[in-house]
Amino acid sequence: MVAFDFVVVGTGIAGLSFALDAARHGRVAVLSKKGAGESNTAWAQGGVACVMGEDDSFELHVADTLDAGAGLCREEVVRTIVEEGPARMAELIELGVRFDGSGEGENRVVNLGREGGHTRRRILHHEDTTGREIAERLLERARETAGIEFFEEHFAIDLITAGKLGYATEDRVLGLYVLNERSGEVITFRSDRVVLATGGCGRVYQYTTNPAIATGDGVAMAWRAGATIANMEFVQFHPTCLYHPSVKNFLITEAMRGEGGVLIGADGKEFMQKYDVRGSLAPRDIVARAIDREIKRTGNPCVYLDMRSKDEAFLRERFPNIYQTCLEAGLDITKEPIPVVPAAHYQCGGVRTDVNGSTSLRGLYAVGEVGCTGLHGANRLASNSLLEGAVVGRRAVVDMVRRSPLGQVPGVAPVIPAWRAGNVTDVDELVVIYHNWDEIRRLMWDYVSIVRTTKRLQRAATRLRNLQREVQEFYWNFKITPELLELRNLVQVAALIVDSAQSRHESRGLHCTLDYPETDPRCLDDTVLRRVL
Ligand code: FAD
Ligand code: SIN
Repeated sequence: MVAFDFVVVGTGIAGLSFALDAARHGRVAVLSKKGAGESNTAWAQGGVACVMGEDDSFELHVADTLDAGAGLCREEVVRTIVEEGPARMAELIELGVRFDGSGEGENRVVNLGREGGHTRRRILHHEDTTGREIAERLLERARETAGIEFFEEHFAIDLITAGKLGYATEDRVLGLYVLNERSGEVITFRSDRVVLATGGCGRVYQYTTNPAIATGDGVAMAWRAGATIANMEFVQFHPTCLYHPSVKNFLITEAMRGEGGVLIGADGKEFMQKYDVRGSLAPRDIVARAIDREIKRTGNPCVYLDMRSKDEAFLRERFPNIYQTCLEAGLDITKEPIPVVPAAHYQCGGVRTDVNGSTSLRGLYAVGEVGCTGLHGANRLASNSLLEGAVVGRRAVVDMVRRSPLGQVPGVAPVIPAWRAGNVTDVDELVVIYHNWDEIRRLMWDYVSIVRTTKRLQRAATRLRNLQREVQEFYWNFKITPELLELRNLVQVAALIVDSAQSRHESRGLHCTLDYPETDPRCLDDTVLRRVL
């Protein structure tokens, strides 16, 4: 067993923002499955939404966020996060993050981008690889910070709670069981302050912009521990993922539409004006649904993003990663329209928290994409996610230290049993795991994606129940591996998405169902799920 003042699961913007600040108060363990550089954060392209422009204001950013969120944002949370943005961005710059712009220090004029749903230019970016720039700088700083210890290739399996151990006190978190992926050993991490910063669950769908780590582990762990989960039906589909036979999961940033890119069909004609007066720059839910409709209507496998009206030098300089990746795939974006399709991108729901990332389970925090603060409501405004990770990651430290001061052990020091492997054998054929994995992802894509129906949701629920039983059997009978643990989490999160979708009898934001096509003004509550332990 190892013990730390803080244990953070995740090395994206949220986890590292937390760790860098928490290290001022105590010893911090930072866990990541795979390497610390592998995160959604490192794949982010467009940038960070933040009020910096002279023509902009907090009020406008708040209004755009509320508008995208379709009635379910918590306004006070939106306001806090938006207003704390500039200070957090100044800190990132201080830590070495380079946002595109000119000048130095006080004279710096940041070059702001534009994305769908934003009424002003307010996106701080580093070319088209903003996430990589932020992730690398934060990792560099964290690795050189005393008090932070990295545990890479350490897979968090489950939370340890007083409730699970049978203590008759108020339930609280006591630590985590963690699989060392290299040695196969399970280690107990003991801490009264645990932070989930595990990102989202894009991999629950067959087509996604997300990296392989995005399997919803944090939500599944929190659910099993009895924490409250909210709004899982609101899965955001990004309208423009590259459609290509060999390049998978590659995002074509919304910033391209912000710079004048136009969506066209195979006939070369614009179609977005039919769906929204904002055309190609309408919020994501509207654009993704419109593309889905056009693909179904025409029978074509994709639509196209046309950047040909833009100057060649500008495209190469502003979007070097996309330009190069497409060129290597045989597509010159300065001369040809880019084939695109929608793909699962972002989890707007998650572990329910307040604006400080505090969950319903004492000592447990959820920050970044895994958490549901109320910022995004029924649909996230573009580039508000990195902002939320930076702001809430920092607020969590303050709140945690206030509620659970270092050096004080709340209640009786618990005895935590070591992990018991039981009478298990190696998985004899990995194909059983991959088969179930593929089945879940396909059924989620076919039955629970951009446009839903009651019947399809029922089918998905029935199949998932069977799959859950089967996966649970694997879990008890086979030696655990990262693949098996991810499958267990994936099927759990898929079931939570379906349960949530089934309980919302209206269409709102990202949840669109043909059986309840209208928004019902009475359905203004979050969809809240809690496991009865
Ligand atoms: P992540 O960055 O996803 O980090 C998750 C971490 O948790 C990883 O370190 C992972 O190893 C670890 N982890 C997960 N499970 C376990 C486990 N069981 N055990 C141990 N470790 C675990 N948002 C914006 O605001 N602007 C953008 O421009 C933007 N562009 C995007 C482009 C792409 C292609 C994608 C996929 C997303 C984009 N997003 C963007 C969304 C944004 O990147 C993410 O929401 C955000 O980075 C999430 O950060 P995070 O810190 O919460 O988690
Ligand atoms: C993008 O660059 O289009 C992604 C922005 C986001 O997801 O916020």
